[in-house]
Amino acid sequence: MDTELTGRAAIVTGGAGGLGAATVRHLVGLGLHVAIFDRNADGASALAVEVGHQTVAVGGDVNDDDDVATAIDAARDMGPIALLVNIAGGGVKSQRTVARDGTPHDKDAFAYTMAINAAGTFNVSRLVAAAMAANEPDTDGQRGVIVHTSSLAGLEGQAGQVAYAAAKAAIAGMTLPMARDLAPLGIRVCAIAPGTMETPVFQNAPEALKQRLVGDVVFPKRMGRPEEFALAVEMILQNSYLNGEVIRLDAALRFPPK
Ligand SMILES: NC(=O)c1ccc[n+]([C@@H]2O[C@H](COP(=O)([O-])OP(=O)(O)OC[C@H]3O[C@@H](n4cnc5c(N)ncnc54)[C@H](O)[C@@H]3O)[C@@H](O)[C@H]2O)c1
Repeated sequence: MDTELTGRAAIVTGGAGGLGAATVRHLVGLGLHVAIFDRNADGASALAVEVGHQTVAVGGDVNDDDDVATAIDAARDMGPIALLVNIAGGGVKSQRTVARDGTPHDKDAFAYTMAINAAGTFNVSRLVAAAMAANEPDTDGQRGVIVHTSSLAGLEGQAGQVAYAAAKAAIAGMTLPMARDLAPLGIRVCAIAPGTMETPVFQNAPEALKQRLVGDVVFPKRMGRPEEFALAVEMILQNSYLNGEVIRLDAALRFPPK
């Protein structure tokens, strides 16, 4: 992006979480003002207090249009919205399509996983893109950038991950058509598909599980750092020729079947 970032705004959904907080800190370091949008309102507020005056916390749900509108207003109060990073999401307890005892996968768990990841990403994107359309274009005609968070699970999901894999595949799948849809508005769309990242979800895991999780990572043989995710967001933001692409961030990890 050839536009000066200072004085422009970003929205980070899931901004109170592991990858989200690292992204918020990184974007503030680039000079952006950031709306930290998360259903964990206390976590978002604590981060805003810690990071300081370039941020505002908005507690809310990515599938609630009023909450999203509040986040958009809060961001626009700080500057034109140059960037949306969709990070909110997560998984449910591992379940097979049919469990070993014959029980079919819980239908509500599948729908919930699709809602917080895929529907939420789509919902925030459509509303924020409409707001970005009012921005002055840069010399490339660009008005904004949207970054989604998919997962390796969405590309090569393992046994027991059917709901999460489907939800993250939906995010990967919406990236190119959304980039095509939003091209006339000058908005680029990319997704990051992280491997295993060392966020609180895994930080507190037993050492044996951590060892197993890094077992198939090729190099460097460790979990990814949240700051490395934030760097990938910056790369997408700054490089105007990246569009419609799902970028793996995985140290050459390929998930085994289970
Ligand atoms: N950690 C990893 O290894 C990894 C790997 C691949 C993909 N991801 C994805 O990256 C994202 C962040 O992962 P993380 O490890 O930082 O998890 P995290 O649980 O620390 O952060 C997720 C944040 O999203 C928020 N959130 C969830 N549903 C929401 C909703 N409906 N509305 C608003 N906020 C909501 C949560 O409150 C939380 O703060 C998730 O989408 C996850 O699926 C993580």
